[in-house]
Amino acid sequence: MTLTFPKTDKIWHNGKFIKWDDAKIHVLAHVVSYGSAVFEGIRCYATPQGPAILRNREHMQRFLNSAYIYRMDVPFSVDELCEANLELIRINKVPSCYLRPIILRGYGTGGVDPKDAPIETYLACWEWGRYLGDEGLKNGVDVCISSWNRPAPNTLPQMAKAAANYMNSQLIRMEATTNGYVEGIALDTNGYVSEGSGENIFVVMDGTVITPPVSSSALPGITRNSVMTICRDLGVAVAEQVIPREMLYIANEVFFSGTAAEITPIRSIDRIKIGNGSRGPITKRVQEDFFAITGGTKPDRHGWLSHVNAPAGAAVR
Ligand SMILES: Cc1ncc(COP(=O)(O)O)c(C=O)c1O
Repeated sequence: MTLTFPKTDKIWHNGKFIKWDDAKIHVLAHVVSYGSAVFEGIRCYATPQGPAILRNREHMQRFLNSAYIYRMDVPFSVDELCEANLELIRINKVPSCYLRPIILRGYGTGGVDPKDAPIETYLACWEWGRYLGDEGLKNGVDVCISSWNRPAPNTLPQMAKAAANYMNSQLIRMEATTNGYVEGIALDTNGYVSEGSGENIFVVMDGTVITPPVSSSALPGITRNSVMTICRDLGVAVAEQVIPREMLYIANEVFFSGTAAEITPIRSIDRIKIGNGSRGPITKRVQEDFFAITGGTKPDRHGWLSHVNAPAGAAVR
């Protein structure tokens, strides 16, 4: 079998490290039939001081929030999970990686009611490059508006990063790539801009950087928060605002944000050129600041990095 991501040595399971190949579940685990899992995606960047996890605490807080929404009792605290992520990278000795924490309902019941299915917590990592391509980061990507909407409010909660949400993401992504686009942008059920299949979205209009509110069925992205913070730091106006579809086409710049996609400019939507058809100046400034902080070449002014090899106690914010 060819894996599209390289194995590491160990995966953390319920407080213990196990071998990558031993991290298995039963086909009748509750999660397989019913999609009952919540997860995270985190990046650990290579810096001159060694690997550093970006916004470890915020990710672990969202992880536990997602579990809480789904009434999953997780016996680990944010601090314990933050420390376990750091230990996972030390043990696997990777210079940089993507981390995938997962909480799932395991093997124990055949019915929908999950109360007899055990809660299993896993933390895994692997070395991973650019999600939407190196070229895309520099020159922008060609995307489309999806014919699939994001789930309506009070259906699948979009503030939870739950596995089941990604059935919708898969439809968006497969439609886009089948039609020759890199990614799709979903609208909410009112027809307003929501987000990409795995990214938040930003529009630059007349110097203001605008992103849809979480109430437009968008995930409260941690990179989204970093982008908004960086904009404020740079003195660029930023707003959360409901975005009509047509604003995308006439925007000066549009870009995606996400742990996997990082900050990726969008150069066309539905084959309509956005701005000058390449990375815009505000996108570039935000990208440069983001990569300088995450790469450790600029001071970490907001304490976003948790250094894996920092002395004990110093690494966990
Ligand atoms: C649907 C969706 N929206 C937005 C994001 C961006 O969130 P974050 O910046 O926290 O990775 C992701 C990625 O996690 C996602 O899957």
